[in-house]
Amino acid sequence: MLHENYGINEKGHLTVCGADTAALAEKYGTPLYILDEDFVRAKCRQYKASFEKHFPSGSTPFFASKALSFVGIYRIIAEEGLGTDIVSPGELYTAQKAGFPISKTCFHGNNKTDADIEYGIKAGVGYFVVDGMDELNALDRIAKRLGVVQDILLRITPGIDPHTFAAVNTGRIDSKFGSSTDTGAAEEITRAALSLDNVRLCGYHCHIGSQIFESEPFCRAAKIMTEFSALIKRRYGYEAGIINLGGGFGVRYYDGQEEPDIDSFTAEIAEVIKDTCNKNGMKFPVIFMEPGRSIVGAAGVTVYTVGSVKTIPGFRTYVSVDGGMPDNPRYALYASRYTALIANKASLPCTEEYTVAGRCCESGDLIGEGMRMQSAVRGDKLAVLVTGAYNYSMASNYNRLPLPPIVIVSGGVDRLAVRRQSFDDLIRNELTEN
Ligand code: LLP
Repeated sequence: MLHENYGINEKGHLTVCGADTAALAEKYGTPLYILDEDFVRAKCRQYKASFEKHFPSGSTPFFASKALSFVGIYRIIAEEGLGTDIVSPGELYTAQKAGFPISKTCFHGNNKTDADIEYGIKAGVGYFVVDGMDELNALDRIAKRLGVVQDILLRITPGIDPHTFAAVNTGRIDSKFGSSTDTGAAEEITRAALSLDNVRLCGYHCHIGSQIFESEPFCRAAKIMTEFSALIKRRYGYEAGIINLGGGFGVRYYDGQEEPDIDSFTAEIAEVIKDTCNKNGMKFPVIFMEPGRSIVGAAGVTVYTVGSVKTIPGFRTYVSVDGGMPDNPRYALYASRYTALIANKASLPCTEEYTVAGRCCESGDLIGEGMRMQSAVRGDKLAVLVTGAYNYSMASNYNRLPLPPIVIVSGGVDRLAVRRQSFDDLIRNELTEN
């Protein structure tokens, strides 16, 4: 199977964390998001162990909760001792409701409003990751009014396109995020941050991209960030205590993709930073990283019920399911490829090739094309694997489809974590008299 937490039981049904996905679909209805808690915890522990082994004490993985945000996930992340990356007051509020220690958050985003900033400061956010000059000045002004000195990291754009190699190094100067090392903006905002009274500069942050399978771009980013820190030390005498290298570790969505080994990537990154620090007479800083997809991606499976199966001779066979782009917009948005199978026939050979279509009134509402799986008939349960990241968190109510529930499985035992939306939920904020 694609990941070790997936299996097939004696009935020939797909299992996740030992639980029968077809049985869960019967119990909770479809579409259904299933999340393997044991997998999430194991990933958190892998990151923690590697950080302890290769980085200085205090170094922490932060779960990027844009990948999956609901109360229950913040509880799990808190119990595992990771920090969390939040990008909006909505994510912050959800973390608060979960009792997450807000001092262990990084608050991201390229356009935090004054209200967001005030809410974040009052909530006790650990680090604001300041995206640019406007935010820096607003943050200093609001912190002064609230009588606090706020810890910050500066978002730096190291000019890396993770899908190209060293020779092509300028691809990402043009970004809505951060201050570029290449244009001088990074140095300018650092100088400004050092001169302000109500922010305390703790270090730098960068995020080079997502779904990256090679260590080389991370090592290149680590080197540029450490060299930037050295330049600032030479010119202004300030040595950063923290470097946050963002998220981006890739996840296997289909056979043939080779997943990065967390421990060896971490070791390689540590080597580059140590080397660059030694050359520049600096201490190895505390390292943060922000994995999102790699913690929850393969923990998730979505189960649908097959409806119509339509073959257009000479073209293709459409298998339509009872969800679609509202619960998983990633094929419609990015043509992202997934692996799917018929959950109640998982031990049978994959003899068919299907286009899996959603139920929305829109021809682009597809889950995938050319998907090889077992032969499907109306009523079968179709499971899409590796949907734990950027599915629920990107879901919508398009066509007024209620959001599916999330069922968490641990030790083979299931529990409901997020209820299915009702039709009343859909109209909750609508003033029926107007
Ligand atoms: N840190 C920052 C500042 C980020 O912007 C992101 C992702 C992460 C961490 C986590 O990256 P990850 O480890 O999950 O790759 N919606 C897209 C992915 C967008 C990622 C945005 N930023 C998708 O469905 O593929």
